[in-house]
Amino acid sequence: MTMSNMNIRPFQPSDLDSVVRIEQLNFTIPWSGPSFLDCSQWPEFWFRVAVLDKKVVGYFVAQVVEEEAELHNIAVDPDHHRQGVGRALMNHLLEAIKKKKVRHVFLLVRPSNTAAIHLYQQFGFALLDRRPKYYADTGEDGLIFYKDLDT
Ligand SMILES: CC(C)(COP(=O)(O)OP(=O)(O)OC[C@H]1O[C@@H](n2cnc3c(N)ncnc32)[C@H](O)[C@@H]1OP(=O)(O)O)[C@@H](O)C(=O)NCCC(=O)NCCS
Repeated sequence: MTMSNMNIRPFQPSDLDSVVRIEQLNFTIPWSGPSFLDCSQWPEFWFRVAVLDKKVVGYFVAQVVEEEAELHNIAVDPDHHRQGVGRALMNHLLEAIKKKKVRHVFLLVRPSNTAAIHLYQQFGFALLDRRPKYYADTGEDGLIFYKDLDT
C-alpha cells in the first residue's frame, strides 16, 4: 500500500462509529463512544484519524499540556495492520508536537504488546518506569515509555 492516498486529519463526530469499531476490535477494555467524543471537545486533547480511500483506518488521542505530551490511545484497523498506518500516525504526532513547545512525550503500554513496543522503540521511546499491576484484567504492569524531543 502506498501512503499517498492516506491523510491524517482531526476527528469529526461522523468518524465516531469507525473509531469505536476499530477500538473494540483491538482492545479487551475498549474506550466508549462518549469517552472519544469527550476527548474531541477539549483543545488539549489531540484526536486525529488516518483516512485511507475515505475510510477511517486508525487514530490517536494525545494530551498536550505545556512541555509535556501523553499518548493515551493509538490503534489501527486490524485489516490494515502492518501497512505503515501506525508509523504514519506516530510521525504525524511527533512532527506536530515538535512545532509546539513540547519536550517530553510519555505513554503506557502492556508488556505483552510487542507490536506497540516495537513501534515506540522505532521512534526512540525508551522504558522509564513501571506501574505495578496497572492492567486490572490481566494484572500486567503498565510500562511507561518516554521520549525526549530534544534528543
Ligand atoms: C501498535 C499498532 C498501532 C501498530 O500499527 P500498524 O499500522 O500495524 O504498524 P506499522 O505497520 O506502521 O508498523 C510500524 C512498526 O511497528 C512495529 N510493529 C507493528 N506491528 C508489529 C507486530 N505485529 N509485531 C512486531 N512489531 C510490530 C514494527 O516495528 C513496525 O516496523 P516494521 O514494519 O518496519 O518492522 C497496531 O498494531 C494496533 O493497532 N495494535 C492494537 C492497538 C494497540 O495495542 N495500541 C497501542 C496501545 S499502547
